[in-house]
Amino acid sequence: MNDNKIIIFDTTLRDGEQSPGASMNTAEKLQIALALERLGVDVMEAGFAAASAGDFDAVNQIAKQASNITVCSLSRALEKDIKTAADAIAPAKNKRIHTFIATSPIHMEYKLKMKPDEVIKRAVDAVMYAKSFCDDVEFSCEDAGRSEISFLKEICDAAIGAGAKTINLPDTVGYRLPLEISAMIEQMVKFIDGRAIVSVHNHNDLGLATSNSLASIVAGARQVECTINGIGERAGNAALEEIVMAIKTRQDIFAPLYTDIIAKEIYPISRLIATITGIEPQPNKAIVGKNAFAHESGIHQDGVLKHKETYEIISAESIGLEKNSLVLGKHSGRHAFKDKLISLGFELDGDALNTAFEKFKDLADKKKDIFDDDIRALVSQEITKIPQAYEIVGLLQSSGGDLASASISIKHNGEIISDSALGNGTADAIFKVIDRISSISGVLKDYKVIAVSQGKDALAKVDVKVEFEGSHAVMGHGLDIDTMMASAKAYVAALNSYIRIKSLQI
Ligand code: KIV
Ligand code: ZN
Repeated sequence: MNDNKIIIFDTTLRDGEQSPGASMNTAEKLQIALALERLGVDVMEAGFAAASAGDFDAVNQIAKQASNITVCSLSRALEKDIKTAADAIAPAKNKRIHTFIATSPIHMEYKLKMKPDEVIKRAVDAVMYAKSFCDDVEFSCEDAGRSEISFLKEICDAAIGAGAKTINLPDTVGYRLPLEISAMIEQMVKFIDGRAIVSVHNHNDLGLATSNSLASIVAGARQVECTINGIGERAGNAALEEIVMAIKTRQDIFAPLYTDIIAKEIYPISRLIATITGIEPQPNKAIVGKNAFAHESGIHQDGVLKHKETYEIISAESIGLEKNSLVLGKHSGRHAFKDKLISLGFELDGDALNTAFEKFKDLADKKKDIFDDDIRALVSQEITKIPQAYEIVGLLQSSGGDLASASISIKHNGEIISDSALGNGTADAIFKVIDRISSISGVLKDYKVIAVSQGKDALAKVDVKVEFEGSHAVMGHGLDIDTMMASAKAYVAALNSYIRIKSLQI
């Protein structure tokens, strides 16, 4: 074990997916998994395999396609969860089972309704059972931040005795301050004394997740759990990009500690996550926010022009942020297009490249200036597409006065079905027609539209969240020059996702 390397454990696909509205389909998760490998992440928590058939499928597909990265599945300290996790990650070259149980008095009494001794026994049984499938087992004390240190020592000692190689101490509710986390980690590192790697997992409820993670590293933790753009349950997790860039930028404090993250991949993966989840980082978000490298005041601009480092501690280029340059146009060839994709972090060949190139040409016919963000949105839509049970082939719409109308043609099982409806606004009319054609009715829970790049002819990206037939809400994304067409595509994408999830559950 190298004592100076900080292991980066990314949980964007698991804790990140627990962000309200961030659920992703298998194709989307696969695309993110490939990007995490390019980024140089050490361990990727690909999901919680026992949560649903869709989650199992995603973890399993990722395990099949991953090369050297360690693929991990979360599981409660229950045999059936652990077995499901083991089955899902089985195809991976490097794999890990991550099992957890709550250790704080409040969780043990009210949630688990278990005595501390029973919790220890459950943890030991879980680790031993996980070990029967996989050598690399991580054990987490959920709500470690509010657990008693003497109990943490007792249970971690037992988990290590049962074979856990990593002990994770989450501040599950984001309650602790850096000085408290630092004291806890220092004590636990001393107690564990090299028998397992000490890991941290900090939530951001008080805006301290990154600070707590950095304080933990200084106190001896050698694994940090984090997510891209800091997405995650409630206020989110520690942001990978913030931790990594702090370690890199402040080597005067952190050396000889380092990570294996390739900083130039940070911006591309941040955009990929925002595009897929529809969750944009706040504009002033450190490292990856839209304004992170924008200098507004005259004094700052003047300083930066004279000498960049007057107001910049990190260069935009170092995280792979090229200015939103005008890129390709109508006359660009396949070769230039492929080069552009590579520079944006996409690896496409064969049919996938041909389809993406056709979509690009279609767009270039309609839109004069095509920006990096247009290409990112277009390509990630294409490669994350799931089987299309329904596909929009035509849309006519009108609005005026109190009512709007929409007529839609949809391809389904090789047949074209057309229908029309009236609605309170065009989007409402569109969604009604789609419900009618599919005979599956949906309740719209969220609807968001953004302009992907600049200009009056910017591409519109619509994200919807829909509950079909009273089941769990699914997300759908649609991209088009026309906002209403993008809305129709997004709704149909959600419908296709729902149909796929339903088919996996049978
Ligand atoms: O926040 C938390 O405690 C978790 C654990 C399951 C690791 O996400
Ligand atoms: Zn968490």
